[in-house]
Amino acid sequence: MCGIVGAIGATDCTPFLLQGLRTLEYRGYDSAGLAVLDNGLQRARAKGRVAELEARVAEQQLQGQVGIAHTRWATHGVPAEHNAHPHVSAGLAVVHNGIIENYEALREKLQALGYAFTSDTDTETIAHLIHACLNGELDGEAPSADLFSAVQCAVAYLQGAYALAVISEDETDTLIVARQGSPLMLGVAEDGHYAASDASALLSVTKRMMYLENGDVARLTRDAIYLKDVSGQPVERDIVTSSLSANAVELGEFSHYMQKEIFEQPQALGNTLEMISGAGKLEPGIFGAEAAEVFQQVDSVLIIACGTSSYAGMTARYWVEQVAGLPCNVEIASEYRYRVSVANPRQLVVVISQSGETADTFAALEHAKAQGHTHTLAICNVPESAIVRETALRFITRAGPEIGVASTKAFTTQLSALFLLTLLLAKAHQRLDEADEKAYLDELRHLPVAVKNVLALEPSIKAWSRHFANKHHALFLGRGRHYPIALEGALKLKEISYIHAEAYPAGELKHGPLALVDAEMPVVVVAPNDELLEKLKANMQEVSARGGQLYVFADGGSQVTSSEGVNVLQMPEHYGLLSPVLHVVALQLLSYHVALVKGTDVDKPRNLAKSVTVE
Ligand code: AGP
Repeated sequence: MCGIVGAIGATDCTPFLLQGLRTLEYRGYDSAGLAVLDNGLQRARAKGRVAELEARVAEQQLQGQVGIAHTRWATHGVPAEHNAHPHVSAGLAVVHNGIIENYEALREKLQALGYAFTSDTDTETIAHLIHACLNGELDGEAPSADLFSAVQCAVAYLQGAYALAVISEDETDTLIVARQGSPLMLGVAEDGHYAASDASALLSVTKRMMYLENGDVARLTRDAIYLKDVSGQPVERDIVTSSLSANAVELGEFSHYMQKEIFEQPQALGNTLEMISGAGKLEPGIFGAEAAEVFQQVDSVLIIACGTSSYAGMTARYWVEQVAGLPCNVEIASEYRYRVSVANPRQLVVVISQSGETADTFAALEHAKAQGHTHTLAICNVPESAIVRETALRFITRAGPEIGVASTKAFTTQLSALFLLTLLLAKAHQRLDEADEKAYLDELRHLPVAVKNVLALEPSIKAWSRHFANKHHALFLGRGRHYPIALEGALKLKEISYIHAEAYPAGELKHGPLALVDAEMPVVVVAPNDELLEKLKANMQEVSARGGQLYVFADGGSQVTSSEGVNVLQMPEHYGLLSPVLHVVALQLLSYHVALVKGTDVDKPRNLAKSVTVE
């Protein structure tokens, strides 16, 4: 979603700001803007891509040692130049991530004071609020002494989530930032100070970062950072050295980030599973110091997540119930957070999120805690994220930065983490003997190689993609633990190729969706050689009998043969409980190649954002 960068240094900061925005492009946006201090406040904005903003910046010859910039993903108001950030009020400018829930009331209040609005956004209210604080126009308050105090004054009026960066032509040596709910971090470098909503945007200048806490307001000058916390007390935050490397977010030899990330999966799985590489047995400590005790105490599992992460949870449900023998429910975060449910204090609440910043998942976690849940665990790819900081236990997947909007390596590494969790719960409940534990660990260790073997099937999958590119609809079928994989395959296809795709448990076909099947309908079948294969074959017959075109991902030994209307791709040997990890890789490749044939924007599909930081 929206992205923020800001800088204050001794040289022109526009190259950094533009580079930062390019780094944040992956998060999804529809307009961009930049403001610098150079003989007053100068601003450039453009609808569309950062490249268009760059052209405007060059045309207007903008430069300055203090500046802020933004990519906007429209919420309040259409994607248009007049809605793009920064928003200004007289000589001050603001960029903002998040949503101000009470913006309508604030807008009316400010209009009554004579402020004229030029956009439809909630952000413009913040700019005018700061201005009104500086002038002492609000509720009898004294004029704020400086920009820092004015931002403190203004944020006290805001309800909702925000990360802010503010500059003013009246204070040319200051950059003010603040956060509540939306992420914001500072970069501490030799030549100045920087701010961004995502660590990757700071890597071109520094790896030394300071993460702001909710309620913090900070003043950045060239050589100092001054911070006040939510209670208005001066505070210091630690500087940490980021483990991210700048080339981890570069495309290298690949055409798209999604392609790069699909092919990085053996490495990502290897890194995530590194802690078990030489281990003869599993230790609960990999989920946190108190995990051993908690895993013994819990009597059930509740998994909460959104999108692809929720499908990882749905797959894990089959594992947890079968292997650990514990009841397991999976909830969509945006539903759970508003549902009246019955909390079980002995339940383990597992939140899954690649980014760790998904607003609904974060709110659902808070909701679970408010309902009386005490055992919380996060499975996340970003160690410093908000969700990780809010749970008692955690497992950090080591997928590396995922830039493509379509989640790939984050999903398979989540699955590997969930399988580890399953084994540990099974051990804690005396459901796993030593021999089985060793056998499962061996399978996990071999997983990167098994995934490599699926990646080798790319040429055949690519050949299939041409059959899908002119279709408007597709069905995905799976059974058991591969039903969530069918859901994930359908999500991948719809999000990057814009083909309407739906997934069903194959047994449901004749309860409705079979009516859609005709010669124009490609039906993708996830067909592992497991205990449900014979049932699945019967479901495939139902499709064939109606002229449907089958595209079957069958394991070696499945004995499904190609014939008229039945296309079969032979996957490697069946991989037991971990087979979903292999089958999803094949579906990722299918959707990637269909999108290539269709010519869609694979990494930045329309209307979508990488981190969904608003509800
Ligand atoms: C899937 O390709 C999407 N990127 C989306 O469904 C994603 O998984 C969802 O928004 C949840 O994100 P999170 O894992 O960062 O919480």
